[in-house]
Amino acid sequence: MKKLLVTGSGGQLGRSVNRLMGSKYELVQTDVFEGDGIKALDITDVDAVCKAVAAEKPYAVINCAAYTAVDSQEKDVETSYRINAVGARNLAIAAEEAGAKLVHISTDYVFSGDKTTPYTEFDATGPVSVYGRTKLAGENFVKEFSRRHFILRTAWLYGDGKNFVKTMLRLSETHQRVSVVDDQIGNPTSSDELAKAIDYLLETDNYGLFHATCEGSCSWAEFAEEIFRLAGRDIEVEKLTSDEYALRNPQAAPRPHFSHLDKLMFRLTGDFAMCDWHEAIERYLA
Ligand SMILES: NC(=O)c1ccc[n+]([C@@H]2O[C@H](COP(=O)([O-])OP(=O)(O)OC[C@H]3O[C@@H](n4cnc5c(N)ncnc54)[C@H](OP(=O)(O)O)[C@@H]3O)[C@@H](O)[C@H]2O)c1
Repeated sequence: MKKLLVTGSGGQLGRSVNRLMGSKYELVQTDVFEGDGIKALDITDVDAVCKAVAAEKPYAVINCAAYTAVDSQEKDVETSYRINAVGARNLAIAAEEAGAKLVHISTDYVFSGDKTTPYTEFDATGPVSVYGRTKLAGENFVKEFSRRHFILRTAWLYGDGKNFVKTMLRLSETHQRVSVVDDQIGNPTSSDELAKAIDYLLETDNYGLFHATCEGSCSWAEFAEEIFRLAGRDIEVEKLTSDEYALRNPQAAPRPHFSHLDKLMFRLTGDFAMCDWHEAIERYLA
């Protein structure tokens, strides 16, 4: 059985990778803290990362670790670069030295959102937040230090962990009406669907940068309406502009207004397709 070294195993994507790929691969699960079947591996520690990868000699390293709290990073810039950029660099160096493939996950927030048509992998980036900038720096390090890499840009991720879907369901228990931004458009994506994309690419030598989101786009408010409809909750969604939301939540990091990702590279290089976001959220809530 081929071995995979997974970082950030306790996170949303890490758990999906474990669930979906655990029967096909031998998994070495790691995260910043040791846990149930999870070894401690801080990706910001280059020596520890190189030592762990050299010792395990995995077929591939799957980097599910990241600093994902978008708002807090605006004031915590160095931690953000340390985890999202230097951490990615460390894994790229270690994977290259060990002859392993590297799967690295990035984000739609590398784009400014100024376009009005979907972003392809060939569009210019222009992050508007610290998170977007540090994730872009991570992509660049991966390209620089690892030849056999797959970078998957995903968006609006939900799985087993903290996410928008769970926040909406929690709010619906105490509120009749919730206020949600309606002028940011993106692709809600389930971490299980993203894990399927990783599983598909890993068996190939189809290296490079891929957009990997569920099919179709919507606003956060439309996403909330669909969550409430599927969960059978009669909740009114008050639709806010980003400016209105920022007035109520001054800590919020700027976000792209439009970050619909076009999966052009998947179309150009194979026949892999990700399912529609409606189908994925229905499966998740079931
Ligand atoms: N969530 C989204 O909406 C979204 C959208 C676009 C792209 N992405 C990208 O998708 C990937 C997976 O996201 P996710 O939602 O699964 O993230 P997540 O649930 O926040 O999980 C990230 C994991 O990384 C761990 N971690 C943090 N710092 C670490 C370090 N120094 N060393 C090792 N592990 C560390 C975290 O541990 P702690 O919990 O203890 O900190 C957590 O277990 C990330 O690359 C993220 O940037 C996410």
